[in-house]
Amino acid sequence: MKRILITGGCGFIGSNLAVDLVSRGYAVTVLDNLSRRGSEFLRARVLAHGVTVVHGDIRDPENLKGLGGDFALMIECSAESSAQTGSGPGDARYLLDVNLLGAINCFEWARERKVPVIFFSSSRIYPYDRINACRYVENETRFDLAQSSSGITPVGVQVQMPLDGVRTLYGASKLSAELILREYGARYELPSIINRCGVVAGPWQLGKIDQGVFTFWLASHFFKRPLNYTGFGGLGKQVRDLLHVDDLSSLVARQVQCLVDDDPVFRGEVFNVGGSAGVTLSLKETTAICAQLTGHRLEIGSVAPTRPGDLIWYVTDNGRTAEAFDWKPSRSAQDILQDTFQWIRGHADDLKDIMV
Ligand SMILES: NC(=O)c1ccc[n+]([C@@H]2O[C@H](COP(=O)([O-])OP(=O)(O)OC[C@H]3O[C@@H](n4cnc5c(N)ncnc54)[C@H](O)[C@@H]3O)[C@@H](O)[C@H]2O)c1
Repeated sequence: MKRILITGGCGFIGSNLAVDLVSRGYAVTVLDNLSRRGSEFLRARVLAHGVTVVHGDIRDPENLKGLGGDFALMIECSAESSAQTGSGPGDARYLLDVNLLGAINCFEWARERKVPVIFFSSSRIYPYDRINACRYVENETRFDLAQSSSGITPVGVQVQMPLDGVRTLYGASKLSAELILREYGARYELPSIINRCGVVAGPWQLGKIDQGVFTFWLASHFFKRPLNYTGFGGLGKQVRDLLHVDDLSSLVARQVQCLVDDDPVFRGEVFNVGGSAGVTLSLKETTAICAQLTGHRLEIGSVAPTRPGDLIWYVTDNGRTAEAFDWKPSRSAQDILQDTFQWIRGHADDLKDIMV
């Protein structure tokens, strides 16, 4: 049985991938420092599915070196995953230690063992100042892109989008790690795939206001907690596409197959991964679905000023990804929220203290 290492495997994406890959006949080990609130809850889930859990930190290369056994692949899913990190004291140093130096430790581990890597990067590598500077039209419930510009069309943001601009420290840490991994491909022939993910959502996401916003919005409705529309006039009209984590899992299963079983031809190729233009919501539209699902109508507050890093619109153009892996997201936005709602309702006692 081929064994896969997932770093950050007690997080939302890592734990879902771990459970999915076990169901496909792989043995899975996860390494996680359990720093994200609620990761103990996800740890219990992966353990129940036969995953081996190692408590460790990617910032310490010895923790990685200590992993025994043969591995066929590494999936690097660990991160300080909030795009807002960097505003508090010590934040920036911590973010870069985890997302850049920690990622390099992972790539070194993979290089020494000649183990292919799937790296989870982010759509946040695209400069938000360029995206926000495009022309948008304000419709009743959302902003829509009014004019295409280089690398941005109504179908979404393409991998060819020019990268000159600012992108948040989080985005910069991810882009830096991408560049290093790509060089490892050229210099050491290390096989790898880079997934630039937009918003992923679904069951087992312990959403926070600054990460996992759709699940957080739904949970706030479920538990009747206050919410604000923040930025871009405080109207709730900013738009994102969203991808169900199970759709992500089926894509990753194909990528695993390519890297483990086929002749690997990937050495740092970048793929946009998201729900695409057919699966988008504004916050205002999300509120309407959340109210319908939970039966709770909240008074949403309004905070007009836009914070550095806030994005008015992001949609993933995943055409190249779909073609390369013969893959297409299958869940609608309504399906994703419906599934997530059922999960929140089924685990309300555990989640009320985690998702605050
Ligand atoms: N969820 C999304 O919508 C989304 C979007 C774009 C990119 N991503 C990226 O995908 C990856 C997974 O995201 P997620 O949503 O599962 O995040 P998550 O926060 O749920 O999971 C990250 C996991 O990494 C662990 N971790 C953090 N620092 C660590 C360290 N130093 N050593 C070991 N483990 C550590 C945390 O405890 C947590 O379990 C991340 O790289 C994230 O940046 C996620």
